Amino acid sequence: MIIVFGSINVDLVARVAEIARPGETVLAPGYDTFFGGKGANQAVAAARASDRCVMMVGAVGNDSFGQGCLGNFAAHGVDTAAVHCVDAPTGLAFISVDRGGENAITVASGANGLISAQWLDGLVIDASTICVMQMEVSLAENLSCARWVRAAGGKVILNFAPAGPDNDPRQVDELLQLIDILVVNEPEAEVIGRHVLPASGTPAEMARRIGCDLVLTRGAAGVDLHALDGSFLHQNAQPVEVVDTTGAGDTFVGALAAALDEAATLPEAVGTATEAASQACTWSGAQPAPTHHKQSW
Ligand code: RIB
Repeated sequence: MIIVFGSINVDLVARVAEIARPGETVLAPGYDTFFGGKGANQAVAAARASDRCVMMVGAVGNDSFGQGCLGNFAAHGVDTAAVHCVDAPTGLAFISVDRGGENAITVASGANGLISAQWLDGLVIDASTICVMQMEVSLAENLSCARWVRAAGGKVILNFAPAGPDNDPRQVDELLQLIDILVVNEPEAEVIGRHVLPASGTPAEMARRIGCDLVLTRGAAGVDLHALDGSFLHQNAQPVEVVDTTGAGDTFVGALAAALDEAATLPEAVGTATEAASQACTWSGAQPAPTHHKQSW
């Protein structure tokens, strides 16, 4: 079973010619509302890529956004038994997307701030569990979740996104000791590198020091796998017409987990996940509509 422990948001997206710089105001003709949140995007991507059980552990508010998120999970076949309705507003993300499909995101965490690793209690967590985490929820709760899953013999995939500057370094170090696969983009890798490496450290050294497989997502330049056994694989991204890159990284992580859950090797899973992430750049918003046909992934 795949468990995604993480954030659930509604995304308010404005398309702009150029993303506003600090102190600047830009105008957009309107805005769209999409389902999002890194955790939710990963869960939806995993469910789309697999017929096996994908369970979301997270929080929504007792509001219409939260009800919408629950309905969206149901439409995609994500199990919401461990999604709690809490006394805070559903998380909202304010997203600007520019002409090239690049984005800038501010997340108002709301209900996501109340997630608890205690919500794992009662779930079947064992050696077959793959747990996916990101950094849009409390680091302390992520740590407790990772400890729980590892103690049960399960596998932990950490997507270190967003790599905010305010994380307690000791907690980050402890979390890194508990993971099997680290997925980062290049800026996130730099942040992690500062924790575990001297400035000149390579991703391969980082993987060795942490003791995990490291997957470096590089946008249009594809994906690099620096495996713990010292092997290296580069996977090209598919050439696609980019509409919106929002959530492409989340789709990668969800599809990676789904492939591993179906017994793919890590290099095979990186291949399928890269294909899925490329496709994710071809639709508006972080998730495809439930009616969007399932890709070959
Ligand atoms: O990675 C994209 C996601 O980041 C968006 O869906 C938004 O909700 C933010 O969490």
